[in-house]
Amino acid sequence: MTRPLAGAVRQLGHAATAWRELTDSRYGPGRVLNAVIAKTQAKIGMTYLFAMPGYIAIEVTNLCDGGCLLCPVGQGRRGRPFGRMPWDRFCRIVDEVTGYARFVGLYNWGEPFLHLRIYDMIRHVTARRIFTKLSSNLYAFRVEDAEELVRTGLNDLAVSLHGLSEASYRAYQPRHHFDEVIEKVKALVVAKRRLGSQTPDIHLGFIVTRYNEHEASALPEFADSLGVGYLLSETSLNLRLLPYDRDMNRRDIDEAGLREERLSLIRQWLPQEDSYISPYYRSVRDHGGELPPAGQVWLKCLTPWNQVIICWDGDVNLCCGSYDRRHSVGNVFETPLRKIWNGPLYRAARRAIAGRRRASDIEVLCHECPGMLL
Ligand SMILES: C[S@@+](CC[C@H](N)C(=O)[O-])C[C@H]1O[C@@H](n2cnc3c(N)ncnc32)[C@H](O)[C@@H]1O
Ligand code: SF4
Repeated sequence: MTRPLAGAVRQLGHAATAWRELTDSRYGPGRVLNAVIAKTQAKIGMTYLFAMPGYIAIEVTNLCDGGCLLCPVGQGRRGRPFGRMPWDRFCRIVDEVTGYARFVGLYNWGEPFLHLRIYDMIRHVTARRIFTKLSSNLYAFRVEDAEELVRTGLNDLAVSLHGLSEASYRAYQPRHHFDEVIEKVKALVVAKRRLGSQTPDIHLGFIVTRYNEHEASALPEFADSLGVGYLLSETSLNLRLLPYDRDMNRRDIDEAGLREERLSLIRQWLPQEDSYISPYYRSVRDHGGELPPAGQVWLKCLTPWNQVIICWDGDVNLCCGSYDRRHSVGNVFETPLRKIWNGPLYRAARRAIAGRRRASDIEVLCHECPGMLL
């Protein structure tokens, strides 16, 4: 097949998948119409939106037992107070978004199984025919609850597993053991089989670092042997948080010191194989730890057009990379989401990304963001 023809066939394939996803009958006509309007608005870069977000991330708790070495939660950073979302507040949010949400992720920063009502929460969402997703380290999940989890109707479960051996696993996730997590994955696969259930779709989330890059090529076979899928991702060094201390106050450090710290993180964590490293980090590495000019866009981001992140305390974040309470754009316990969604901060964020920033715009996270989680 010639190259232009192959490209056209690929585009048609993407369009067909997008259309199938948009019009999946399980969502009902209201949500489908909302999704079609949302896509159109994002495409033309509108900043006042008639459609509501199709993806809602609800951080049921930001407490965590993980201690992952590159995660701000694991590092003990205190971007906001810690806690769990109260059940009645959770139900009110789900009621509010049911008319348009197609996907609900019950996690953001923190470990979802540390919420005591996580199973009720999953059931509450799936009962509304909303696709439900969790990402977890599985530490707080108990093998004896495997069937209960399958029965909740959870659609998708990502298991964070950043190594295929005890040594590489603990290089990033030092508080627990590789075998312990694998036993839990096996228990879930068995429970699915016993109940004859297609869901949850389980996959291993594997972030490639210098400690595990030698195992990345074995991941497909390993996942297959367990009867699950996998997803390889590039790591985030969260360089944007380096100038701040644990309480997210500015540290007394100059640019030369920051450059040194960036290089040291890069030397320790980034894989040696360039194809596993984002172009942004390659640039920092190849320019002596210097960040590319602010405002330069490295990843096309449509997040403020199609999703919201709701923290356990009701605060709304523009993106999953937001880690500081000062970047909140409203609170759903005080203001309806619909109002926050078209409030001045959300609109300023969309204008920033669409390249139409106004002098009067209040500073928001997107103004200097090169892409997510960097
Ligand atoms: C912050 S965790 C919260 C959910 C849960 N505790 C977990 O570990 O899956 C959500 C996702 O962010 C990913 N994550 C955390 N730190 C990261 C980093 N430095 N780079 C890339 N992804 C990261 C995790 O692997 C996980 O897939
Ligand atoms: S990645 Fe998940 S498990 Fe690890 S510290 Fe962060 S929130 Fe906790």
